Amino acid sequence: MDLGLAGRAYLVTGASRGLGHATARALVRDGAHVVITGRDQASVTEAARALSELGPGRALGVAADQADPDAAAELLARTRAEFGRVDGVVISVGGPPAGSATTVTDDQWRAAFESVFLGAVRLARTALVEATDPIAVTLVLSSSVRSPLSGLAISNGLRPGLAMTAKTLADEHGPDGHRVNVVLPGRIETDRLRALDATADDPQEARRRSEATIPLRRYGRPDEFGAVTAFVTSPAASYMTGSVLTVDGGAVRSL
Ligand SMILES: NC(=O)c1ccc[n+]([C@@H]2O[C@H](COP(=O)([O-])OP(=O)(O)OC[C@H]3O[C@@H](n4cnc5c(N)ncnc54)[C@H](OP(=O)(O)O)[C@@H]3O)[C@@H](O)[C@H]2O)c1
Repeated sequence: MDLGLAGRAYLVTGASRGLGHATARALVRDGAHVVITGRDQASVTEAARALSELGPGRALGVAADQADPDAAAELLARTRAEFGRVDGVVISVGGPPAGSATTVTDDQWRAAFESVFLGAVRLARTALVEATDPIAVTLVLSSSVRSPLSGLAISNGLRPGLAMTAKTLADEHGPDGHRVNVVLPGRIETDRLRALDATADDPQEARRRSEATIPLRRYGRPDEFGAVTAFVTSPAASYMTGSVLTVDGGAVRSL
């Protein structure tokens, strides 16, 4: 299937590793060019080099913190300068800290709001307002949009609101042909998931227990997530907007 990505350009945040990087890989393999971000210049440069080697698309790595109010406009300008166009944005970022609703501090809520919530809204809004041709915006959130995750109070608190904000942006910008969608990872094997599992007394036993609750009986691979996110962002998904897609091996108990 031709996703129609050849020669297009996308900004993918939080993509020096993990789900953002897997999405960038899928985009580049199908011929799209990408600007990828992470907070550390050395690792984002190395990640971009690896993507460009995959080809046929090209990649540029730019260090930026999603919590920085100036990052959105600067990254979009950089994408336009490098590739002459911006066809869409995939917004991923490091997950908020673990903790219960009783113990998470005000400072932790504020910091997570700045990067996970406001950083995503600001980038989506800026890209949509600046766009002269129809673009696609895809937010990487979490299955906590549909069902709370134990010990991840901040994710449970912020992500449902972010999904509804994405739906609102889809309403507001649909008349101009722009699309805004949300993808919800379940348990996909990245550094983030390994770090969360490592907090258990017995990480291997914690993983076995998690996998037993997943209908496909295993964690997902990043490329399995990246393929879906690249499709939703691509012109092949041209009639999809305001959608919330789960990539979770069947784990979530609601539709
Ligand atoms: N993996 C899963 O199973 C899963 C499940 C549910 C939800 N999620 C959510 O999906 C998102 C991506 O998860 P992941 O597994 O890919 O995480 P990851 O493996 O930790 O990768 C996170 C990426 O984001 C970058 N990053 C972190 N903070 C950033 C910031 N403030 N500004 C810009 N870039 C930043 C990281 O690079 P630097 O650290 O160098 O900045 C890295 O490239 C997270 O929000 C996570 O909570 C993941």
